[in-house]
Amino acid sequence: MPLNRRKFILNHAALATALLPLGATVRAKAVYASGLSEVFKDDFFLGTAISNKTLSGSDPAMFKLIAQEFNTITAENAMKWQSIHPDHERWDWRLADRFVKFGHEANMLMIGHTLIWHKQTPPTVFFKSRKKQDALISRDLLLKRLRLHVQTVIDRYKRQIALWDVVNEAVTDKGRWRESHWYDIMGEEFLEQAFRAAREADPSAHLMYNDFNMEKRQKQRFIIHILNILRKRGVTVDGVGLQCHVSLAANAPSIDALEAAIINFAKAGLRVHITELDVDVLPNAWKYKGLHIDDLPIDSDPLDPYKNGLPARIEQQLAERYQALFELFIKHRDKIARVSLWGTSDDESWKNDRPVIGRTNHPLLFDTQKRSKKAYDAIYNLKVKRAP
Ligand code: G3I
Repeated sequence: MPLNRRKFILNHAALATALLPLGATVRAKAVYASGLSEVFKDDFFLGTAISNKTLSGSDPAMFKLIAQEFNTITAENAMKWQSIHPDHERWDWRLADRFVKFGHEANMLMIGHTLIWHKQTPPTVFFKSRKKQDALISRDLLLKRLRLHVQTVIDRYKRQIALWDVVNEAVTDKGRWRESHWYDIMGEEFLEQAFRAAREADPSAHLMYNDFNMEKRQKQRFIIHILNILRKRGVTVDGVGLQCHVSLAANAPSIDALEAAIINFAKAGLRVHITELDVDVLPNAWKYKGLHIDDLPIDSDPLDPYKNGLPARIEQQLAERYQALFELFIKHRDKIARVSLWGTSDDESWKNDRPVIGRTNHPLLFDTQKRSKKAYDAIYNLKVKRAP
């Protein structure tokens, strides 16, 4: 029977129990979900991403904070192809197993991220020779590898993980297929084959397509179009992930554009997941992508202005931006299954190293000392505001 979506939307406890390994007992810790996720418990699940650093065990305080504030987790990197399946015959489950163990113990809804992506996938997946990366393998061989990977990963975790980002970022902002080794070798078929393989591995899973800049209309239309084609061919995609890497400085995307995206995807019959929310406070530096901040050919200070902390004015703007986003999510709570932040505290955010390495960003709800920020209070207080 297909996963009853309402089961995880309305009754997390029931889903968690349904996913327990056979014979296991519920060992949820008393500390779980007493913080922010409690505020939104009648609206949507509230989650965060767990870094490899945390999963490696070097930061026990982070586990505690996550268990207290969130009820949903995504592995930031630990379940990606290059981490979990670094070579044809080699699987490395260590960090992913820890992710699942923590998720189980803290009674978290767990998201499997991500099965098929053009990034963080070893080149050996696509090329004939390990040394010479000039000849791509055949469509049949890549399909075999795709199916083996997707089915092995889902099979290992299907008792604990019911929600999967099956394909990540296959479409450009202009609404075309992204050029990638997947596309070069298999053409558009790779999307369908990935969802087919996932559905076969776990017929009751909640399967999602995940991408960024989902507010761009051409991208939206194209994604809805290709997911409709899949549906006609009998391959159901249950949900769509709007990553939501938001920029404070550029004031983008606008709340209106994001709202239109939520409405359009929901109208297309897809559950909406906000999958990777963060709010970048730094100036645009894409021109210097990949460079270290100390190696810029210009004065770096204007591109890294908050090394010593956020000025009160920007802290306030950040809080207002988070508040506006959550007001929007609450308004569309009937369409949104989950809102996940892309990390917990500012020190661990990928935004400190993208596009320029070594900057100091402040995109999340907790600062580098794991203290809640004004943005946290702004969201938390929405509960008070909504009280009768
Ligand atoms: O752990 C190594 C470290 O040992 C090494 O010294 C260092 C040197 O470069 O690299 C470290 O690994 C980095 C890893 O993040 C952990 O910090 C990788 O280089 C870096 O590529 C990797 O970046 C990840 C990125 O995906 C890769 O594209 C980010 O953490 C992760 O947040 C980001 O997540 C993606 C989502 O999966 C999909 N949507 C976009 C999102 C942001 O790019």
